[in-house]
Amino acid sequence: MRKGAVLIFMIFSVTLTMAQNTWSKNVAQIVYDNCSNCHNPNGIAPFSLLSYADVKPNVFSIKGSIESGSMPPWIADTKYERYAHERVLTTEEKVAILDWIDTGSPEGDASKTPPPPVYGTKGFITQKPDLELKMPVYSSKATANGDDYVCFSVPTELTTDKKIRGFEVIPGNHAIVHHALVYIDGTGNYPTDTTAGVCTGPTKGLIGGYVPGSPPTVFPTNGTDFNLGFSVKAGSNIVLAMHYPEGSFGMVDSTIIRFWFYDDATPIRELSTDPLIENWQFVLPANKETNVNAQRNIGNNEYSILSVFPHMHLLGSRIGSYAITNANDTIPFVNIPHWDFEWQEFLFFNKIKKLPKFSTIHGHGTYDNTSKNMHNPNNPPVVVRPGLNTTDEMFLIYFHYLPYQAGDEDRDIEALTTLGVKNLNPIHVNAYPNPANNKVYFSLDELVYQSLQLRIYDMNGKALFDLRKLKTDTKEVVWDIPKNLTNGQYYYSINMDGKMARGPINVIR
Ligand code: HEC
Repeated sequence: MRKGAVLIFMIFSVTLTMAQNTWSKNVAQIVYDNCSNCHNPNGIAPFSLLSYADVKPNVFSIKGSIESGSMPPWIADTKYERYAHERVLTTEEKVAILDWIDTGSPEGDASKTPPPPVYGTKGFITQKPDLELKMPVYSSKATANGDDYVCFSVPTELTTDKKIRGFEVIPGNHAIVHHALVYIDGTGNYPTDTTAGVCTGPTKGLIGGYVPGSPPTVFPTNGTDFNLGFSVKAGSNIVLAMHYPEGSFGMVDSTIIRFWFYDDATPIRELSTDPLIENWQFVLPANKETNVNAQRNIGNNEYSILSVFPHMHLLGSRIGSYAITNANDTIPFVNIPHWDFEWQEFLFFNKIKKLPKFSTIHGHGTYDNTSKNMHNPNNPPVVVRPGLNTTDEMFLIYFHYLPYQAGDEDRDIEALTTLGVKNLNPIHVNAYPNPANNKVYFSLDELVYQSLQLRIYDMNGKALFDLRKLKTDTKEVVWDIPKNLTNGQYYYSINMDGKMARGPINVIR
């Protein structure tokens, strides 16, 4: 009886929400936040989702992609572990979009539609980079059955040492850049290598990567005493290890990488990136599923772990990683139940993970070398071994990590990388007082705007406040802090005519 009553209540409340969903009222914001960073005129997706006119003709394929879970693309199991900047719709967001489509996808009051985000013609970050490097124009030599792995060593021409706060890789040709790994070569001697098509970069100095759809890499910083990054010495080269897939022969690319630096005086803690888990010994017999494992004990060291990046090729079907501590506790890193070669990336955890002394890191993967695997490049299947071509296999799990310091495990990576982005933003907002106990005022440099939106989030990314103003000349907007809000850190996001600013707010009473 009780279950039935709950069900009736749920159906009733869903019906109520259904009647209210419109593009302008709530759907536009969900699409901006979850779809538009790929679905814009300069993004990797094949069509834009920025306006009602863009979205309306696509509602049925949107419905299909949301129901099947194919969009937004995201491969890690978020029930196993949570990550910063997850591309995942909440249940409420899914229900809102699907109900909106099922009720005829009305536009609502167009004058109330929040301003769409604006994307630069080159990448996501609109502020001028401190350094921009471009690899030479290259014509892919990938053959019908072999990929092209080539390395471009580009001199930074830096005359003083710098500290990297973030970087963004911008493919010259979105259609053929399958991934790019970014290395610092401190010797300045690492050669460009485009001869054999099997270059995967130097053995040291990896700082991150690019795969289609991955956001720019911004390392965590609180703007004062907690700054993570990588040092780059004067005279260093940046090495881009590029992967062009089969079928790209003759197509041309010239990828750009942009860097933003910390101020020279800012002390940083140096990050490392390595495949702490790897296995180069396995054999995958034809017509079989095979499990592959690897493990590593970290010895008498304590580490803080920021990210995990599992890597397999086309036969991979599952991959996971976790650590077991000396006290027999399990530290989960990642579980990918359906491996997808197209959507692999560095996954930054929500919070930094402390790895105690003598922990053992485990990695486990499954490869499906049968003809049931629709990505199997061989028909009929053949025996496959580790190697560099996409038709060979790999079992690697990279991590961003550094020596542990007390308090690291309390650091919220999403919030701290969001703060990192704040300094990269084109509009200037002064939020005061901060810390605050009653009201926060946001004052803006510019007086006139067409539309403005202020949102306040908690550290889990949950929106607490959403204010919209249209065509006014208010120079200041105010957030009245709710009386029952707990003390702690929050952050704000301001969107003025599509330009963004973000920052922290501390509530202390
Ligand atoms: C990380 C980038 C990215 C994000 C975020 C993203 N898409 Fe896509 N989308 C793509 C790409 C790339 C394609 C082209 C097909 C492919 O490669 O899978 C695509 C294709 C589609 C298609 C065509 C049919 C299909 O399933 O392939 C639909 C519909 C779609 N996206 C809807 C959405 C919606 C709705 C959202 C937000 C809820 C979204 N996408 C978020 C990258 C993205």
